[in-house]
Amino acid sequence: MAELKRSKITAVGHFLPEKRLTNHDLEQMVDTDDEWIKTRTGIEERRILEDEDKASAYMAAEAAKEVLDQRGISAEEIDVIIVATVTPDYLFPATACLVQNYIGAANAFGYDLSAACSGFLFALTTGSSLIEAGTAEKVLVIGSDKMSSIVDYTDRSTCILFGDGAGAVLLEPSDDGTGIIDSIQHSEGDTNCALYQPAGGSLNPASEDTVAQRQHFIKQDGRTVFKKATEGMADVSLEIMEKNNLSADDVAWLVPHQANKRIIDATANRMGLSSEKVMINIDKYGNTTAATIPLCLYDWKDELDHGDNLVLAAFGGGYTWGAIYLKWGL
Ligand code: UT7
Repeated sequence: MAELKRSKITAVGHFLPEKRLTNHDLEQMVDTDDEWIKTRTGIEERRILEDEDKASAYMAAEAAKEVLDQRGISAEEIDVIIVATVTPDYLFPATACLVQNYIGAANAFGYDLSAACSGFLFALTTGSSLIEAGTAEKVLVIGSDKMSSIVDYTDRSTCILFGDGAGAVLLEPSDDGTGIIDSIQHSEGDTNCALYQPAGGSLNPASEDTVAQRQHFIKQDGRTVFKKATEGMADVSLEIMEKNNLSADDVAWLVPHQANKRIIDATANRMGLSSEKVMINIDKYGNTTAATIPLCLYDWKDELDHGDNLVLAAFGGGYTWGAIYLKWGL
């Protein structure tokens, strides 16, 4: 049997809309206040894609273009495009096919991956497996979500949390020992639907009734999800450290999904990491679902050193959760 190759990230791109929705803006829209939002979540503002004719595929394509520029390659060289999203432009065709068309990746195939806030992490593992197996040499892995399209701006318990954005990475074979070393993925079917969008799928297709009942928006039992997320993200981060014999000193950075600063702090505590080793940008962008982790990698890329040990961790609707251990290869 041929030896498995390792894959590494060779470029990172992003897209953030210009419009900022601040906590003070939200104070004018629902019964909330800046102090409550900052203390309970760590969020100060989020970005909103205002153009009605643009959505997740557009943001994903802009992030992908930045990746291609950075790496100095043409779109025709891309073999695979995987887009993690819960806000695809259409139920079908896949957002990845729209991105392929936007950037001109004529030789690629692509598909979407739905794992909510763990989407990017699951997509990175999938893309990495394609390279390890020798199926592909250049894989674009993108997390893109226009959360404002499914947020109910009359529901104070959810509208304060989410923002729009996209992040993308290029995965290529690694020949220097750096790259994705291990990953752990979990899911647990949540039949109580603590976090979901009730309508728009095949069970509850759009109708006057579903619209009247505001069922096309995110519904979340925040307290239940908070508890599961805090346990899940901390447990899986510790699990991947133990599996790979990593001490807290060995870990250069935790790259956590940005859902709530309190969940991130609890994970870092369980791992024994000081706050200087934790990427946090939830204050600026809120929860951008599949885009949070690549947006962190983008914001911190100039501070990362070749060979740094990174632990990526996420928890999301489904439930889905997991962690990746990688050695930074740029
Ligand atoms: O990314 C995918 C996974 N998602 C998550 O990880 C999100 C997990 N959940 C959370 O982050 C938190 O549960 C929230 C930030 C959503 C809520 O924080 P909490 O500390 O769990 O608050 P709570 O839901 O227990 O509500 C506490 C109080 C309630 O009032 P009473 O019943 O105690 O009088 C709420 O009505 O805060 C009230 N409240 C608000 N007050 C001001 C809820 N939302 C707001 C608000 N502004 N926006």
